[in-house]
Amino acid sequence: MASSNLMVGLEIGTSKICVVVGESRPDGTIKILGVGQAPSRGVRKGEIVDFETAMKCVHEAVVDAEEKSDIMIRSVYIGITGAHIASFNNRGCVTLPDDRDEIDEQDIDDVKINAREVSIPAQNAFLHTIIQHYHVDGQNGVLNPLGMLGQKLEADFHIIHGVRTRIQNTIRCVKELPLDVEDVVFTAFASAQVVLTPHQKSLGALVIDIGGGTTDYVLYVDGAVKQSGVLAVGGDHITNDISMGLRIPMTRAEKLKIEEGSTILGNCLPGETVLLKDDSGFAGKEVERETLNTIIHMRLRETFELLKRKLEDEPFLDYLGEGIFITGGCSQINGIDNLAEDVFGIPARVTHARTMSGLTSAFENPQFASAIGLIKYAQAVQGERQPVGGLRGMFGKLLQRMR
Ligand SMILES: Nc1ncnc2c1ncn2[C@@H]1O[C@H](COP(=O)(O)OP(=O)(O)O)[C@@H](O)[C@H]1O
Ligand SMILES: [Mg+2]
Repeated sequence: MASSNLMVGLEIGTSKICVVVGESRPDGTIKILGVGQAPSRGVRKGEIVDFETAMKCVHEAVVDAEEKSDIMIRSVYIGITGAHIASFNNRGCVTLPDDRDEIDEQDIDDVKINAREVSIPAQNAFLHTIIQHYHVDGQNGVLNPLGMLGQKLEADFHIIHGVRTRIQNTIRCVKELPLDVEDVVFTAFASAQVVLTPHQKSLGALVIDIGGGTTDYVLYVDGAVKQSGVLAVGGDHITNDISMGLRIPMTRAEKLKIEEGSTILGNCLPGETVLLKDDSGFAGKEVERETLNTIIHMRLRETFELLKRKLEDEPFLDYLGEGIFITGGCSQINGIDNLAEDVFGIPARVTHARTMSGLTSAFENPQFASAIGLIKYAQAVQGERQPVGGLRGMFGKLLQRMR
């Protein structure tokens, strides 16, 4: 990776491992140079369950990305998911000494540290501490307090954390290849960086990234992340339901879901069927289209209802001026936006990464939203971060401790 403008995002998903190579352009845009992929094995519900196998798949995807982009990959930003990921909002506070009234960078660091002084489970580590708003001597909605006069600096943060060893396992899987890990990023937070515009974040929006084994979400109000998390349910559960319900092999159920599936009920002709041709070891079968769609509808409805109940712990669903944005592989199921609208009572749409150039087929595919989002995240942090030799980022110390 000759140029510092090159960035690589790596998503270890339940369905696929995806490596996106991007280039940050001087005008702030990103050009996608290549995408490498490998089917994911050794990963369940977004978490590594077979280290050696997962590592081989990651290696395969990295080699593929190197060939496609003609670039040697040395370091990556990794996307992380899994039901162990949790979040909350907290306020930090610092009081300036009597002989000083100008807020400096140290105060801004200290207020963040103060917000983290809460107990999270002993086995957990902080993943993100995302600023929402600053308050200076009671003045609300301050965007950047650096250089402002004040005695008391307060700040609200959205804090995302997860089980330390699960995060470390993902990091190790990549480091043993060997590749440097620049940072570890929650996947839905990454997706949101390319799915939403800053304006949509400020008007209020919910991003739902439905993959194979998980449904990851992040909710913005007033331009700030207010809620985020992971449900351990995804498209593989739909495939499983189809396989069980229609008594067909999983591979046929997956194909049927992708090629014929829909969440829309009552649209089929009475008795309308789909013919599954015979295949090695499978005798072939005719299945009722309405039954297929009902299975898909029920599972997705349940997933959205589960998410709605989780989000209703706080009042933010009432502030989504821009509505719901669905992405990830499962967003391609016909009628999923209508179903989300029905459950949440809020406008919903299916979407993918925006404002990119280069490989169109990559950024228009919702399966790549989070890996592309990692590049957008990388562009933002590289803009503000000073290299500190070797390991960097929020997990730098944690990475060093592992060695
Ligand atoms: N065209 C499609 N229509 C419906 N579902 C799809 C389609 N393409 C992929 N999927 C489903 O999307 C899921 C994978 O999504 P993806 O975002 O790649 O997952 P992950 O990030 O967990 O690897 C699988 O359950 C797959 O069946
Ligand atoms: Mg994913």
